[in-house]
Amino acid sequence: MSASTVSRALNGDARIGPETRARVGYVAAQLGYVPNQAARSLVLRATRTLGLLVPEVTDPIHGQAVAGFEDEAALQGYTVIMANGFDHPEREARPPDGRREEECVATERIGIGLVGAGWMGNEHSQAYRRIPETWPEANFAPVLVHVADNVPTVAEASARRWEYPRSSTDWRAVIDDPEVDVVDITGPNGLHREVALAAAAAGKHVGCEKPLGRTAAEAAEIAAAVARAGLRSNCNFQYRHNPAIQYIRQLLAAGKLGQITHLRAAFLTDFGWTPDGPFAWRFDGEVAGWGALGDIGTHTVDMLELLAGPVQEVIGTTATLVAEREHRAVTNEDYASALVRFANGALGTFEVSRASAGPKDAFRVGGHGTRGAFDWDSERMNEVQVFEMSGDEAADGYRRLVMGPSHPWYGRFCPGAGSGLAWHDMTVISMYQFLRGVAGGEPTETDFERASHVAAVIDAIQSSHTTRAWTAVGAH
Ligand SMILES: NC(=O)c1ccc[n+]([C@@H]2O[C@H](COP(=O)([O-])OP(=O)(O)OC[C@H]3O[C@@H](n4cnc5c(N)ncnc54)[C@H](O)[C@@H]3O)[C@@H](O)[C@H]2O)c1
Repeated sequence: MSASTVSRALNGDARIGPETRARVGYVAAQLGYVPNQAARSLVLRATRTLGLLVPEVTDPIHGQAVAGFEDEAALQGYTVIMANGFDHPEREARPPDGRREEECVATERIGIGLVGAGWMGNEHSQAYRRIPETWPEANFAPVLVHVADNVPTVAEASARRWEYPRSSTDWRAVIDDPEVDVVDITGPNGLHREVALAAAAAGKHVGCEKPLGRTAAEAAEIAAAVARAGLRSNCNFQYRHNPAIQYIRQLLAAGKLGQITHLRAAFLTDFGWTPDGPFAWRFDGEVAGWGALGDIGTHTVDMLELLAGPVQEVIGTTATLVAEREHRAVTNEDYASALVRFANGALGTFEVSRASAGPKDAFRVGGHGTRGAFDWDSERMNEVQVFEMSGDEAADGYRRLVMGPSHPWYGRFCPGAGSGLAWHDMTVISMYQFLRGVAGGEPTETDFERASHVAAVIDAIQSSHTTRAWTAVGAH
């Protein structure tokens, strides 16, 4: 394959067919190549190799410039791979310096198998593809290998869109695929347990969307199986990776807001507000398990615990506000709220709803400490209100901080403050942290043990609705 084809494939040129693009993408990921579109060249940062595409070297001045580039690159320890023009074969400007091969081997290829190619299947696929460009120095590279969806057209469309070389309608084919190292489950909740247990039995690392199981017992069973097999896992609590949330976490850890005394989290959405909406699997307790509690409630519990530590006991209530859709009974809750007591003595409130007129996807978290306070709203996810006691009462008050590269993760996505991250970016961080652990690095904090604990808190809220009593987490 010519250098120009490789360059065009990596630059997303529509003239290059999907099969060729997939082949180039696969090899590029293995080698750690990062397309540098601005320069229309290839930059192999992990292996200290530079690719240079020179349209034409005809006069001596151009020749000297290129030679100077080669000398400087060699001095800095880079190997240069050069192509003259778009239609000439690639030539190596200097012989490899001996480091190239061993550093290529150090880039671990992680084969991804995806189960469920709907909304979150697309979300995870884009996230995996963006890891090498966001962390070019990473010693691993995800390679999309196999996607399964029980709807044939969905499986095929996903394979085409994200360039999975193989697609199936049976998720078992993903687990059996020898090139799959990680099975990532983005199907309906009722599928999570069976696929996760089979993946763990096959020795594959497992990612899963939240809620990990339909019940706390299912979540605990999955977490135990993965732990027994010594595998890495990840549950996608992506909101916690938002730079503003991670910044608040830093402020809390540094004691800047003092000891947290009380906080509140409300995740209010409108997708189930109108009874005229379709009956999706989410409204079926058999398939989904919990309703709003498992869906947005799990994010909310994860967030509360990230900021204030483990929840000890709860008392809550739940309701199904829209009881019927498309002449079918809704068999799980639309709404839940709870009072929360944390192990460290802090108090909190929790409210989640999929049936609230007004908000779209409003996840709001606020807290108060002995020296300050914060407030964050996911609908304005690139800013946060922070109050730090200064001793000057007249000047004290909330400050609106706009996120920028000095806040956690932000600089990976945008060089300029105020440009802002998007919802997709939080999933990119989530998948990066997962695969970093798979590649032998620091494991992600959002593993299945964490997800199982979250499920236990959700279970306690649901139980307390029945018993009408304060309920200890893990009592059931
Ligand atoms: N982290 C988040 O913010 C977030 C957001 C939305 C959904 N989720 C979670 O993601 C998961 C999927 O939700 P979604 O909104 O993407 O659902 P979806 O309905 O859009 O997609 C689910 C896909 O799974 C496929 N599927 C169903 N049964 C299957 C089977 N037996 N084998 C293979 N594929 C099968 C469906 O055909 C569909 O394409 C759920 O667990 C949900 O709770 C998480």
